[in-house]
Amino acid sequence: MSYFHDTYFVLIDDKYSIFRVLMSFIFLNFKDAMIMDNKSTLKEIEERFDRDVARFANLKTGQQTTLDAKFNMDIITDGILQVYPEIHDVLDIGCGAGNYPVNLLMKANSNANVTLIDLSKPMLSKARERIEKLTSGEIREIKGDFRSANLKECSFDVIIATAVLHHLRDDADWESAFSNCYKWLKPGGSIWIFDLVAHNQARMQELIYTVKYGEYLTGLKDEAYRDHVFAYIEKEDSPRSVDFQLDLLRKVGFSSVDILHKHLCFASFVAFK
Ligand SMILES: C[S@@+](CC[C@H](N)C(=O)[O-])C[C@H]1O[C@@H](n2cnc3c(N)ncnc32)[C@H](O)[C@@H]1O
Repeated sequence: MSYFHDTYFVLIDDKYSIFRVLMSFIFLNFKDAMIMDNKSTLKEIEERFDRDVARFANLKTGQQTTLDAKFNMDIITDGILQVYPEIHDVLDIGCGAGNYPVNLLMKANSNANVTLIDLSKPMLSKARERIEKLTSGEIREIKGDFRSANLKECSFDVIIATAVLHHLRDDADWESAFSNCYKWLKPGGSIWIFDLVAHNQARMQELIYTVKYGEYLTGLKDEAYRDHVFAYIEKEDSPRSVDFQLDLLRKVGFSSVDILHKHLCFASFVAFK
C-alpha cells in the first residue's frame, strides 16, 4: 500500500473530484489486495531458504544483496552489548544461518540462552551448529512461523529481527507481529531490526529502490543478477517504510525508538520496551 500513497496526494492536490479520488482509493486497495495475493506462500519461502543456507552463513560479508550488511551486523550486536553487557536471553526471529547471534556471541562474555525461530530446518541446523560453539547456555530451536510462536511473556532481553519482517503482509499482520514481540520482551528489553524498507512517495521509491539499489545490484554482478534479485523481492517481499514501522512500534507500546543506520532502501533501528 505504501508505494501508492503519493498517488492519492497527487489526485487531491490537483483538485480532482471526490468521486475520482474515492474510485482510485477503492481501485488501489483492490490492486494492493491482488498484489498481496500473488506473493509467495510460507511454504515457497521455506523451500527457497532451504536451498540458500551458505549465502546466509558468511560472517565476513553478511548477506551481500543488502546494503552495508557487515556494518549493520556490527552496529546491532555492538548496540545490544552496549545496553546489555550481561545478556541472558536472546530471541532471533527468522534467524537464517544465525549470523547475528553468532556475531553477538563472539563478542559477548556470557552464557546466554538463545531461541532460534525459522521456517527452514536447514537454516536452523546451521545456526545451532555455529552457536553451540559459542555459548554454554540453552539453545532452543523452533521450526515454523514466528507469528504463531507460543513463547512465554516477558522472557527475552532482546529480539533480533533481521531481513525477515519484509515477509509480513497487511497492516494487521504487522501490528500483531510487533505486539507479540513487545509481549515476549522483558521490561527494558528491546527489538533490533535491520531490513529492506519502502518509501512512501512512489517517485522516491523509484529513485532509491529501482534506480540506486538497482545500480548497487548491477555492480555486485551484472544486470541479469539485478533482475533476478528484483524478481524474487517482487514475488516474496512486502516491505514497509521506516516511519510506518517506528509509528507502529510506538503504537504497540514501545517507549522509545532509535534509528541506527539508513542507506537507500535498507535501514536498521531499535525499539525499547
Ligand atoms: C533473508 S533471511 C535472513 C536470515 C537472518 N536473519 C540474517 O539476517 O542473516 C530470512 C529468513 O527468515 C525466515 N523466515 C521468513 N519468514 C518467516 C516466518 N514467518 N517465520 C519464521 N521464519 C521466517 C526464512 O526462512 C529465512 O531463513
